[in-house]
Amino acid sequence: MIFDLIVDNVCPLVVVRISLITLIVCLVSKLYWSHIGSRLPLPPGPYGMPLLGYLPFVGYDFHLRLTELGKKYGSIYQIYLGTKRVVVINDARLIKEAFRQPVFSGRPDTELTRILQGYGIVNTDGALWKEQRGFLHSVLRKLGAKSMILGRDCLELKIRSQVKIFLNDLKSTIYNQQSSIYIRPYLACAASNVIGSLLMSMTFKSSDRKFRRIIELMEEGFRLFAIAMPVNFFPLFRFVPLVNYAYRKMQSNRDETSGYFHEIVEEHRQTLDPEHIRDFVDAYLVQHDRIKESGQDSFFSEKQLIQVMNDIFSAGLENVTSTIEWAVLFLMLNPKVQQHIQTEIDQVIGPSKEAQLADLEQMPYTEATFWEVLRRSNIVALGNTHSTLEDSSLAGYSIPATTHILPNLYAINMDPELWENPEEFNPERFLRNGRVYRPEYFIPFSVGKF
Ligand code: HEM
Repeated sequence: MIFDLIVDNVCPLVVVRISLITLIVCLVSKLYWSHIGSRLPLPPGPYGMPLLGYLPFVGYDFHLRLTELGKKYGSIYQIYLGTKRVVVINDARLIKEAFRQPVFSGRPDTELTRILQGYGIVNTDGALWKEQRGFLHSVLRKLGAKSMILGRDCLELKIRSQVKIFLNDLKSTIYNQQSSIYIRPYLACAASNVIGSLLMSMTFKSSDRKFRRIIELMEEGFRLFAIAMPVNFFPLFRFVPLVNYAYRKMQSNRDETSGYFHEIVEEHRQTLDPEHIRDFVDAYLVQHDRIKESGQDSFFSEKQLIQVMNDIFSAGLENVTSTIEWAVLFLMLNPKVQQHIQTEIDQVIGPSKEAQLADLEQMPYTEATFWEVLRRSNIVALGNTHSTLEDSSLAGYSIPATTHILPNLYAINMDPELWENPEEFNPERFLRNGRVYRPEYFIPFSVGKF
């Protein structure tokens, strides 16, 4: 009634102004009260632009910008990306303190995660995540056990056989080409064969067309994510042609990989023998049927299984392949480190025996080199973003519900207070008195559990 009176008697421009002022007052008071409500201050942080927040300033190397901001605002600070509040944590102790609390275990609900329709493990939370992650862990633990279980070879044997194939392929290619080669496809093939055999009893040849396509789609997924990421914070970015293209391509790629995994699940279904579990897909189908028969409530479903397969392939393949690629590069650049590892190999394994995981216990320098590769390569510079499930607090700051929590692992790995000359590649920093020493602030796999 009052609104009608104003609209009828006041000029339209004044109405627009009053509406805008009201909107701004509402937004500011919402922010103010969410902060005052907890009686704790919000984390400090830089101001950004209206609506876009700090988004225009993040640049391509987001992790470097966030690390620079950490020098000014401390180990925990907030920025706005679009209208979304993001709390960045640059300190391992605080990351552990946060992620060990259930309230910090949420996953952001964004335009891009919605492509996955709430399925999988990497981008889900709550009861679904807990049940599905628990099941994945228990099956992988059994499949990776040291004994022959489930009627199949153990994980270590699978890895050893892939190492042999990888080295043979490499040798014959080098012999035939007599020139330098690009090792990434060979590494990707070996890594996917380990994951593929655990997951669905499948191994591939690097020349296999279907397999190449899946690897291509997985690798493209990471590039597309980087381009489409702004829509998570400002949905209008969807109308920017390049972002829109990346967003649509992510959707169609996901449909293509899901179609591929669907065929594999169907094949497994037809040959399934509950007494002889071959792999993760078999174990999942048996559990699915068991739960269905019992009438219990659960999140087991074929769509969920297919997204878990997508998650494991993309999470595992990229990380393992890139880590080994970096390892090769660091060893090429550091011949002394190579020599040191060779000495350990000669002493512990010798020229004729095949390397075994158990040998690593007597090869501290080799293990230290592995940790140093993970530290210095920073292949996961920013851990998975979490989200707060309700209002909370951390380090004396108020953290409102649905805040995105971003663990900046790069800042920890490259902190000169923690590592002497952090830019330098030096495995010795992971050794103490000839034994491997992993400081508690070294968390290359983040802390993804509670
Ligand atoms: C060098 C190797 C690897 C690195 C550095 C790495 C790193 C990470 C990091 C930082 C996270 C985020 C944890 C969090 O939510 O806070 C993660 C999650 C995950 N990784 Fe890896 N990872 C590696 C290898 C693998 C492999 C081989 C697989 C599977 C075969 C895998 C499967 C997963 C899955 C399923 C998640 C999601 C876990 C969850 O949300 O609960 N990762 N990884």
